[in-house]
Amino acid sequence: MAAQADTIEVPTDAELLQAQADLWRHSLYYLSSMGLRCAVQLQIPTTIHRLGGVASLADLMAALSLPSVKMPFLHRLMRVLVTSGVFAVDKDSESGGELYRLTPLSRILVDGVTDEHHSQKYFVLAVTAPHCAEAALGLADWFKKDLEPPVPSPFEDMHGAPVFDERTPLMDEEFDAVANEGLAAHDNLGIATILRECGDIFKGLESLTDCCGGDGTTARALVKAYPHIKCTVLDLPKVIDKAPKDGVVNYVAGDLFHTVPSSQAVMLKLVLHFWSDEDCVKILTQCKKAIPPHDEGGKIIIIDIVIGPSLGPIMFEAQLLMDMLMMVTTRGVQRSENDWRKLFMEAGFKDYKIVRKLGARCVIEVYP
Ligand SMILES: C[S@@+](CC[C@H](N)C(=O)[O-])C[C@H]1O[C@@H](n2cnc3c(N)ncnc32)[C@H](O)[C@@H]1O
Repeated sequence: MAAQADTIEVPTDAELLQAQADLWRHSLYYLSSMGLRCAVQLQIPTTIHRLGGVASLADLMAALSLPSVKMPFLHRLMRVLVTSGVFAVDKDSESGGELYRLTPLSRILVDGVTDEHHSQKYFVLAVTAPHCAEAALGLADWFKKDLEPPVPSPFEDMHGAPVFDERTPLMDEEFDAVANEGLAAHDNLGIATILRECGDIFKGLESLTDCCGGDGTTARALVKAYPHIKCTVLDLPKVIDKAPKDGVVNYVAGDLFHTVPSSQAVMLKLVLHFWSDEDCVKILTQCKKAIPPHDEGGKIIIIDIVIGPSLGPIMFEAQLLMDMLMMVTTRGVQRSENDWRKLFMEAGFKDYKIVRKLGARCVIEVYP
């Protein structure tokens, strides 16, 4: 033991002080998450928006109807949220006080604005909900358990049902509703950006199947931008039954493990990260059967995270945290390029191209 201890280098004072500050930050990041949750629950982004986009502390106190004794506490909460980029602050030239503004981050937390940016408030409320936080708190116990494959997530192991399962509402109806709203918000954010930034992927396509396309929100946006594309949405019967049948897109109720409607391209947007490698190979094999050869324009379009440091440290950290979220709450996984390549080759595809234009996510075109 003594010999081992000797090999550990003693940090310098500067390193020690930095290590202490880093330890505080990393141990206390959950307070940053809970501060954000609190801001969403109090509706601070929506309130600043309703106050014209700028609000003093006194404006916020009044609009939120908070007891005056809480004013210094709200100031401290806002200071942290400004530091983490949720809000911005300016000095009021008249009073010398602080004026809070929305940033792009808090702009996507404003409720009830019907533009292309679906409010992400339910994403925040879902991932910071007690059920998810409790599952994360149980991570060490879960690691020690020798569970039979397919290994249930810490969430499933702790609560007895996976998230987004038919049993989840029986476990907690309110959490299930929040989780589904959070998923819908998460899925729908950015389709307009995808069409603007990666439009080339859809140019020249005659038909496309949006596999697991939910209620058709993405497919309808796609047809609006590219009216010549004949779009089919495949999803489970319980989802297709509730989808709006407006004649814009064609709906097929089915199971992607059994059959995928034929078209020139099949899109899997935010789908594969939810499934194990084994299941992904089965899904990709079904998708391959649905498309023509590469020289006839056949391709699979995957929109998902490709984990890697090339997009910079902030995007990389966001990707890794999204993978931890998958690990804690689902049986899914976020994949690196190597992981993706293995799946494509196993499913019999010949080549692929990654387009890195979607922030922390990518578009992958996969060719038969
Ligand atoms: C994360 S959402 C996909 C999001 C959607 N592609 C988007 O970007 O808006 C998962 C979807 O997969 C569907 N799904 C799950 N299992 C399925 C299956 N076996 N066959 C077809 N659809 C399935 C769900 O009903 C749900 O709509």
